Amino acid sequence: MSHKPVFLAEVIANLKPKNGETYLDGTFGAGGYSRAILESAQCNLFAIDRDETAKKFAEKLTKDFPNHFVFLPGKFSESAKLVNEQGVEKLDGMVFDIGVSSMQLDDRSRGFSFDSESRLDMRMDQNSFPSAFEVVNELSEKELSRIIKEFGDEPKAKQIAKKIISVRAEKAIVTCQDLAQIVRSLYYGYSKTDPATRTFQAIRIFVNQELDELKAALASSITLLKKGGRLVVVSFHSLEDSIVKNFLKEESGLSQSFSRYQPISEEQNLPKNFQLLTKSAISPTEEEVAQNPRARSAKMRVAVRL
Ligand SMILES: C[S@@+](CC[C@H](N)C(=O)[O-])C[C@H]1O[C@@H](n2cnc3c(N)ncnc32)[C@H](O)[C@@H]1O
Repeated sequence: MSHKPVFLAEVIANLKPKNGETYLDGTFGAGGYSRAILESAQCNLFAIDRDETAKKFAEKLTKDFPNHFVFLPGKFSESAKLVNEQGVEKLDGMVFDIGVSSMQLDDRSRGFSFDSESRLDMRMDQNSFPSAFEVVNELSEKELSRIIKEFGDEPKAKQIAKKIISVRAEKAIVTCQDLAQIVRSLYYGYSKTDPATRTFQAIRIFVNQELDELKAALASSITLLKKGGRLVVVSFHSLEDSIVKNFLKEESGLSQSFSRYQPISEEQNLPKNFQLLTKSAISPTEEEVAQNPRARSAKMRVAVRL
């Protein structure tokens, strides 16, 4: 299935591309956002993706928008370096659509999906190391338990880690199915979501260092954006969204109140790099979720560089 971009209209409405301005799409994917940005104004666009398979979509845009589009293979934590290497110091807007694409999830050979017979992998950048196979077969019980708890919020993290260790003592855990069965064997009865979901999410986040990548990308927006430049971030789970929320609150000088009964206070002495335009995250409409179930948990936050 091709990737159906979430919040496409909202991203364009908030990024507000203008003729002659320069933008960065930090998560190119199949180029849905990039194409819409280039179609909405005669602007210049850099796009980053660490997945080699994004290149074939990028080549199409390079042809369709000659002299306006440059694809930069790499990690979005390196946005500043990659953009500066192109002789550009400042941008008018940056957008990040965090997470995996439908193409990555649906391509069973990539080893993201818990019902596939493929070798455990889950790397967005297939040249990176380790893959999920090494993580599951080589890390200690303590490390596995921490990862599954911290990045998956899995209540049975300890038992799952213990079971992984005992199974792999007999024979390597090779396929996605093998790992999913280990997790499922610790759950009884019917539940709406597969019990393996949380463990797979946790290992994927660890393999791709997703949260550290996000923190670095957000930090780079402070250096890269011009005054008045716009930052748009779309995320898909609460771990990511809380990183975005906290970063924007801190950088807008809005400290989080200690009591949830107190309003958020604006501290005079905190640095203000951004003005937050979305006090609460934007959620998809029911219509968008009906058309694209993967939009269900999406959240969008927008800020302007001061
Ligand atoms: C949800 S998809 C983006 C889809 C895109 N907005 C579109 O319209 O097609 C996320 C993409 O970001 C890429 N990605 C995720 N983390 C990355 C990182 N740290 N550095 C570079 N690319 C990353 C993934 O490889 C994937 O292709």
